[in-house]
Amino acid sequence: QNTITATLFPGDGIGPEIANSVKEVFRQAQVPIQWEEHYIGNTVDPRTGSFVTYESMESVRRNGIGLKGPMTTPIGKGHKSLNLALRKELGLYANVRPCLSIPGHKTRYDNVDLVTIRENTEGEYSGLEHQVVRGVVESLKIITRQASSRVAEYAFHYAEVHGRKRVSAIHKANIMKKTDGLFLQCCREVAENYPNIVYEEVIIDNCCMMLVKNPALFDVLVMPNLYGDIISDLCAGLIGGLGLTPSGNIGDNGLALMEAVHGTAPDIAGKNMANPTALLLSSVMMLKHLGLNDQAESIHKAILKTIEEGKYLTGDIGGSAGTKHTTDRSLLSWSYSCCGLLELVF
Ligand code: IPM
Ligand code: MN
Repeated sequence: QNTITATLFPGDGIGPEIANSVKEVFRQAQVPIQWEEHYIGNTVDPRTGSFVTYESMESVRRNGIGLKGPMTTPIGKGHKSLNLALRKELGLYANVRPCLSIPGHKTRYDNVDLVTIRENTEGEYSGLEHQVVRGVVESLKIITRQASSRVAEYAFHYAEVHGRKRVSAIHKANIMKKTDGLFLQCCREVAENYPNIVYEEVIIDNCCMMLVKNPALFDVLVMPNLYGDIISDLCAGLIGGLGLTPSGNIGDNGLALMEAVHGTAPDIAGKNMANPTALLLSSVMMLKHLGLNDQAESIHKAILKTIEEGKYLTGDIGGSAGTKHTTDRSLLSWSYSCCGLLELVF
């Protein structure tokens, strides 16, 4: 099997610890991936105009695939979030967040299985905020036909290839008539080409209520940027929180950067306390994206077994183990056995 080179941004805070966990699990599962690691510094690279270095950007472009830990948003005027800079610069227009119940981790909801697909480049995230006069500020929400149609097309295509039945466009077009109106129009047009997939439109406030009452009402949800940010956190909450949910940023020509949705958690950084699950699940998404389905399955199983077994869980999901313990004692053993390398580990 040929080795694939993938970019790895361990990131800040708890990032390096959870990235380590992924590296170890990949090694144990004999995944044919070689990492090209990049640390994003704390000075502005004049070639990119942001903290994201030219080399790191080139690395993702060249490899076409990457995994990213959480990154601190630099403080100070004019310094944009690194997460956003990466998405925008690399043209990662669709943010895909599958939200699947984890059998070993009980929440109020059983069998949640939905996917939020968020427009990832514009909307209120366009970075256009101004003071008009003292005491009055404005923010521009940009919605374009191009970006809306592109993400809608991605959502329907995703639904089709993943055997999903329904796409719900989430909006507030009753109030945001022009912006969300255009977004919906684009979704409707794309829906026409997918007669086998049920298309519906749900107003966002109502969507929140329905999600909390009965998540099974939804399948694939597609929406503008800010709504996607909010709804994806709500959905993460249904299955146990951001420590358990993966995420992928997808661009043209298969370009993809997977990431954990959670932050850098500076309070527990370097203390061997972070839960590696979200980044591991994101790495599983990455493997699937690369077509390494066997390895993806094995590692996914190992993650689920670790949680189900419940012996070495981190504090956020009710255990008292450290990042290293959960990795060494549970994840690595389960990866070993799930890969069929050994029948019985215990
Ligand atoms: C996310 C995060 C980011 C966002 C932040 C860190 C910029 O909340 O990935 O959902 O708002 O998109
Ligand atoms: Mn968010």
